Amino acid sequence: HLTPLEHAEAFAPSNIALCKYWGKRQDELNLPVNSSLSISLAHLGSRTVIRPSATGEDKVILNAKVLDLDAPFASKVIAFVDLFRRQQDLPVIVDTRNNIPTAAGLASSASGFAALTLALNQYFQLQLPDNVLSAFARMGSGSASRSIFSGFVEWQMGLHEDGMDSHAYPLDVVWPDFRVGLVKVSTSQKAVDSRSGMKRTVATASLYQSWPAQAAQDLEKLHQALAQGDFTLLGSTAEHNAMSMHATMIASWPPLLYWQPDSVAAMQKVWALREAGIEVYFTMDAGPNLKLLFQAKDQALLETEFAGLEVVAPFSGAAARV
Ligand code: PMV
Repeated sequence: HLTPLEHAEAFAPSNIALCKYWGKRQDELNLPVNSSLSISLAHLGSRTVIRPSATGEDKVILNAKVLDLDAPFASKVIAFVDLFRRQQDLPVIVDTRNNIPTAAGLASSASGFAALTLALNQYFQLQLPDNVLSAFARMGSGSASRSIFSGFVEWQMGLHEDGMDSHAYPLDVVWPDFRVGLVKVSTSQKAVDSRSGMKRTVATASLYQSWPAQAAQDLEKLHQALAQGDFTLLGSTAEHNAMSMHATMIASWPPLLYWQPDSVAAMQKVWALREAGIEVYFTMDAGPNLKLLFQAKDQALLETEFAGLEVVAPFSGAAARV
């Protein structure tokens, strides 16, 4: 039996994968084919407030706008709340604000479902441990499992089919000079979301067969890079991993090409800067925007090279949970 509070509030950061999650082995529970590793974006993310609803009806508010309960985001949120309240008649108001700059073209589902999970845990006074919270968040959106934590985070794929061992955990690494730069190419809605993109890749790209082994190898290299503080190994592994994921997308049918001409221009700029001795790498998700990986010493130069670059210092003051 649940005893809700009058008010619960939680924040969760957005995250960028350095070894990507691409492909599910089980659809309903969001169980991944491979383990993944990410960096959380400190203060950039979602803040969610939950209150009881006096009208007896659920209400979903996103960035100060009340949503139609049939809207895709609202119905996903309500289905997620139902995982916690089950059959009990406990109508809620879920109010979420993203402070992710819309110009950055970052997905908000990871931070959104992580913040919702943390807020529900408080609201219903469940006191679930972090690994369980992460496994719950995973069911909202796979990458949300990683947004429960700050810093470098690994989501272990797990082996069990109930999914309880498929959760993330934080890595014990602090890297104050590490920077992530968001390069805006386009903010228009992506043509194919990651859920259907993954499905299509797994079903139609024979190249996908090589992905699990590549991801496992990249994960090992990232662990080595983190243990040794080897930025070159970290950046090159992340870029190679992203390009390998995109290769499987392009090899799907119909082809999935998330890049735009400006994405390619930005990639070429990164490669030219590396030729010139600047240690900068990129990663990309299911969209046209690049995320640059670099060190603090190169920030000023990269800000002049990439106009409008939004820079995040992931280790500058841990993000508060509440
Ligand atoms: O969590 P989802 O279902 O939005 O999938 C995320 C997929 C990628 O962003 C492409 C990779 C990742 O690991 O974040």
